[in-house]
Amino acid sequence: VRTLRGRLFLYLGAAVLLSTVLTIAVAALLVRGHARDQAQTNLDRQAGAAVALGGRGGQVRRTAADGTVVAFVRGGRLRPLRAERAEDLLGDIPGGDASGRVEVGGRDLLYAARSGPEGRVVLVRSAKLAAADWRPFVVSLLLAGLGGAAVALVLSALLARRLLRPLGRVAGATRAIAAGDGDARVDVEGDDELASVGRSFNAMADQLAASREAERAFLLSVSHELKTPLTAIRGYAEAIGDGAVAPQEAGAVIGAEADRLERLVRDLLDLARLDQHAFAVAHERVDLGAVAERARERAAGQAAALGVALEVRVAPGATAVGDDGRTLQAVSNLVDNALRATPAGGRVVVDAKPGRITVRDTGPGLDPEDLPRAFDRFHLHAKYGADRQVGSGLGLAVVRELARAMGGDATVASRRGEGAAFTVRLATRNT
Ligand SMILES: Nc1ncnc2c1ncn2[C@@H]1O[C@H](COP(=O)(O)OP(=O)(O)O)[C@@H](O)[C@H]1O
Ligand SMILES: [Mg+2]
Repeated sequence: VRTLRGRLFLYLGAAVLLSTVLTIAVAALLVRGHARDQAQTNLDRQAGAAVALGGRGGQVRRTAADGTVVAFVRGGRLRPLRAERAEDLLGDIPGGDASGRVEVGGRDLLYAARSGPEGRVVLVRSAKLAAADWRPFVVSLLLAGLGGAAVALVLSALLARRLLRPLGRVAGATRAIAAGDGDARVDVEGDDELASVGRSFNAMADQLAASREAERAFLLSVSHELKTPLTAIRGYAEAIGDGAVAPQEAGAVIGAEADRLERLVRDLLDLARLDQHAFAVAHERVDLGAVAERARERAAGQAAALGVALEVRVAPGATAVGDDGRTLQAVSNLVDNALRATPAGGRVVVDAKPGRITVRDTGPGLDPEDLPRAFDRFHLHAKYGADRQVGSGLGLAVVRELARAMGGDATVASRRGEGAAFTVRLATRNT
């Protein structure tokens, strides 16, 4: 049996059968005493009848030495006992009229003794109950069994329904979501384990819908970012054709826009590869002081052109576990951002400490509500996107993914108007 429904019904069916058998067995135990009393009463009645017939009636011939008729009853017929067994028996039962149970020669017997004018009759029978003794009770026993079975069946059916219905709902909602209905949710009733399955399912569906929405928004942003430079390139190309613009000027603009496209595509590829964990990331000891110095060398020209001072500070023991090249890529990205955000005359400091590099600037900083989402794709870019000449809007997202790929993370601290401090944190020792 493969399905849960089938297995459940199998188990419940077994439980019903078992409880029915148990009901009948218990009822039989309870009835047994009664059946034995009944057997004794019957024996007494037979003994009475035999006395009335004078122990004769053609049925009983042989008797004990004192003239008592002693007979064994089986299947409603009387069989006289052999003389020596009859003596044995008479030694074990009281005189006069008596009824009861006695053990003779290892046999458990019921007896009934009755005296009349014609003499005494003693009837015995096996104390074991035979099928005939049960017959009067069969209907009651069957009724008890059927009643037990009915109760067990109803309870089992209710239980099966209670178990299977919520699961069926979750299965239905799962199919609906797989078929593309992102709004499918499960109605949750109660507060048990099955309700918690439903709630977890709904939470998962919400999560799925949110991430689908995020993907859609991302795709829209990417399309927008691709369209803007392409529109500019097309415009300048047409202007050259019309002779409306000097080729040198158009060439410079087209080159700059192509740069933007190139950067965007490069960041997109980086993100996609980081997402797939397809990026080769080393876990080696990295000299963060050296990384900071290389980032400064790279950006020195840009800093001079923008009129921003660029400094490196290295604390003792400024090392971490990570990938040299990827760390430089992340820090360079942060330095580039900081230089562009900082007005001329400001200062950018690259601060290397054990396990972290912080890039601090004296630029405009960020609003508090932006801090939790600063590393989300296109988030800051969309909000403060004025300095668009070089940005792709994905730089900070790439920084965070790089840091995480190295087992670390990226964080930001800032106050509006007081500059920003972006930090790449890495492990200080191999784990
Ligand atoms: N240090 C900073 N100070 C103020 N604003 C910043 C800083 N770093 C980044 N930003 C803002 O965040 C935006 C997104 O940065 P980023 O993700 O690197 O994309 P890009 O640099 O390609 O525009 C920037 O355009 C800028 O407006
Ligand atoms: Mg950037």
